[in-house]
Amino acid sequence: MKHLIDPTDLSVAEINDILDLAQDIIEHKEEYSEVCKGKKLATLFFEPSTRTRLSFEAAMMELGGNVLGFSSADSSSAAKGESVGDTIRVVGCYADIIAMRHPKEGAPLFGAAVSSVPIINAGDGGHNHPTQTLTDLLTIRREKGRLDNFTIGLCGDLKFGRTVHSLIKALSRYENIKYILISPKELKLPDYIITEIFEKNNIEYREVTTMEEVMDELDIIYMTRVQKERFFNEADYVRLKDTYILDESKLKAAKKDLAIMHPLPRVNEISTKVDEDPRACYFRQAENGKYVRMSLMIKLLNEAGAGIPVPFDER
Ligand code: NCD
Repeated sequence: MKHLIDPTDLSVAEINDILDLAQDIIEHKEEYSEVCKGKKLATLFFEPSTRTRLSFEAAMMELGGNVLGFSSADSSSAAKGESVGDTIRVVGCYADIIAMRHPKEGAPLFGAAVSSVPIINAGDGGHNHPTQTLTDLLTIRREKGRLDNFTIGLCGDLKFGRTVHSLIKALSRYENIKYILISPKELKLPDYIITEIFEKNNIEYREVTTMEEVMDELDIIYMTRVQKERFFNEADYVRLKDTYILDESKLKAAKKDLAIMHPLPRVNEISTKVDEDPRACYFRQAENGKYVRMSLMIKLLNEAGAGIPVPFDER
């Protein structure tokens, strides 16, 4: 049984296949509108979400399948004390595939160990968010035309931001990418990512504290929200939350073909004035999330023997 818990559960070849299928879905949407007829996706969200949950649900609906699930731990039997393992065993009797988000790191991995259907990690604490990573990779490929040879600035909460952790793990396997880590010292990237990913693989990275000092070097800037829910005290959050605000004046020094990304939700990190800049691709990024999840679910369901027809394979 194949699950998607960590972005490195997928090889580079598998990732590229998922992105190719997503691109085919974008170009031939109508041909995919019935392929998952009779299939059910369960979305088990023990933590809040807008894009991830709704894009999973829209993705299954656009494939002709159905969805069921819950959007908060309070409305599930977790509130009565049920374990994740028991919830997953039971939902596996009702659904063909599960997308699960949980505040505890490792909860989806634990769920996968007892699951009879494929589990997709839709975010586990500050750890991983592999479907956001697939979304980001599809966005980079569509915006820049390649997944190698660029400089990316990752800005904001690099400590708790799971989207950044997952993206670095996945991108580290592509060629000649330089990383500029922009964060206050309190929100630096965890040491294990620096040693296990950058240093072990001889990947070039730099840590800075302002975006101004590196803006002209960047091909991509990936902004992130300070992760309020993972702070231990409110005062630290309040002190750090507005450290970075990307606005038109800071973009003056940027490259003409910079890609401005953000997994969203945005709080204050990007001025709404930037939304009109053609380089702002965060809303396109959110749309890509739906197509990449359509592609991923077809792949995982077929690995589990569903026999879903794939028009792309016939071309
Ligand atoms: C992200 C997440 O949940 O980690 N949101 C998302 O899925 N697009 C980013 C965030 O919450 O800041």
